[in-house]
Amino acid sequence: MPDLQTVVREIAQEMRERTDRGEVASYIPELARVDPSAFGIAVIDADGEVAAGGDSDTPFSIQSISKVFTLTLALGKAGDRLWRRVGREPSGSPFNSIVQLENERGVPRNPFINAGAIAVTDLILSGHQPREALGEILRFMQFLADDSTITIDKAVAASEQRTGFRNAALANYMKSFGILDNPVAYTLGVYFHHCAIAMSCRQLAMAGRFLAYSGRNPSTGLTVVPPERARRINAIMLTCGHYDGSGEFAYRVGLPGKSGVGGGILAVAPGKASIAVWAPGLDASGNSHLGRIALEMLAKRMGWSIF
Ligand code: DON
Repeated sequence: MPDLQTVVREIAQEMRERTDRGEVASYIPELARVDPSAFGIAVIDADGEVAAGGDSDTPFSIQSISKVFTLTLALGKAGDRLWRRVGREPSGSPFNSIVQLENERGVPRNPFINAGAIAVTDLILSGHQPREALGEILRFMQFLADDSTITIDKAVAASEQRTGFRNAALANYMKSFGILDNPVAYTLGVYFHHCAIAMSCRQLAMAGRFLAYSGRNPSTGLTVVPPERARRINAIMLTCGHYDGSGEFAYRVGLPGKSGVGGGILAVAPGKASIAVWAPGLDASGNSHLGRIALEMLAKRMGWSIF
């Protein structure tokens, strides 16, 4: 078995030197300011050993990766009732697409496309004040990462709130079908803010550990979700975690993963490791270009593909 520390160090070195870096997201103006040359990686194995390289301690905007954690929270609150308002099929469409909602009674295809994540956020909100729901999401992230310093980047949240017309359209459209319970402005406010949570690769890999170890944090022994739920969240990450790039990600990397337009990807090697990578340049589907390549190299060299 190759040495994980060496593999991670070599991948970080190679990624630093590559010139094909993709395009940094610019539709959220604040994200356009991020340095495209950044690259970070953190891998945490079953013994809690961390292998990290590059900018692994620099916080970045986790964006859609937050949707894994809001799904986990919402399933804890609503259980299978959640599946009445959101499906669990890949969409084959871009993350912010509206086309399927009209023919499918406003029910989003899955919890990871924007429409689905907004519907999930609405479930967490369920009659509470936006501030309380957001506090709950943030505390959940801090608990999972065992790090109370994790915060929300208010500038990123405000930037998206000012420009998130497409998400406002999705939310209003779903509201017209009765999919959302709360005022659209409340739900969107919580959604924009949880997308703006800032975390480093190390913090994110820590937070994802329960998915790699059947719902338990192997260090503390604490159960976050039952094993069956961890398996199912991983299944949705594999099939829907990269939007219309999910097939390609499964083909190349072979691990459940969730991307965000901040350039992060959380990936899960069941029983072996929780992995976070960050490279801000994106491919045409809005997924981290070098992040995917780094994960492909890691999975191949460690023999971690689930297939
Ligand atoms: O709603 C949005 O457009 C962003 N807050 C999140 C999108 C995202 O991260 C898509 N991921 N690749």
